Amino acid sequence: MHVLHVIANPKPAAEANSKALSASFFQALKAKQPGVSVTELDLYANPPPFYDYSTYRHYWYPVFDAGYKPTDQEKAAVKYAQKQCELFKQADVLVITTPMWNFGMPAILKAWFDQVLMPNVTFSIGGEGVKALHKIRKVVVLASSGGTYEPGDLRDGIRNGIKAAVGFVGIKDVEVAWAQGQNPFFFQDHAERKAKAVVEAAALGTKTAGD
Ligand SMILES: Cc1cc2nc3c(=O)[nH]c(=O)nc-3n(C[C@H](O)[C@H](O)[C@H](O)COP(=O)(O)O)c2cc1C
Repeated sequence: MHVLHVIANPKPAAEANSKALSASFFQALKAKQPGVSVTELDLYANPPPFYDYSTYRHYWYPVFDAGYKPTDQEKAAVKYAQKQCELFKQADVLVITTPMWNFGMPAILKAWFDQVLMPNVTFSIGGEGVKALHKIRKVVVLASSGGTYEPGDLRDGIRNGIKAAVGFVGIKDVEVAWAQGQNPFFFQDHAERKAKAVVEAAALGTKTAGD
């Protein structure tokens, strides 16, 4: 099993709740499956560009005109996307470590999704709908937030946003371990909440190894 671990958190591990969850997840995963291979992608060390017009033309013009030949400028614009799409296509499982910022994923993570969900590369699109051109069977989200969000909460752009994005390319198995209620002004039990989420992340690691 090969795991792509995308880290969208600029804080050092000692400060980031979501990184405590990922440490717990990977410890359990590796304990159960020592042969697992993991590619770590720290987005702050390797930031994606914003999706631009050249990128749009390079990937979407051929969808509607199979004979379209991208220009040199368009080819140059998609270097990051090409590399990230390769990483995406090598993975069996995608793990995302992220805080909630302004009710959704950090912009750097959204920008990464914009670089990897590419027609004719990671999915195909046409009269028969959308088909996966990757082998990711599961996405694990390891998140932290100041507030609390029950499933279905419209303010929750983390679970809803990631589920929608990966669901579009055929990944229905999305599991979440989430340290909610981490704002110490509003939640006196924030430490217990975090400890519970760390245990849940470990259980998800063990489960993912067996999937
Ligand atoms: C820029 C910024 C925006 C935030 N926006 C939200 C938010 O919309 N909802 C929320 O519940 N918490 C929000 N928080 C709180 C964080 O989600 C919380 O501190 C969380 O534990 C951060 O995860 P981390 O410890 O893994 O970095 C925000 C924090 C920052 C720094």
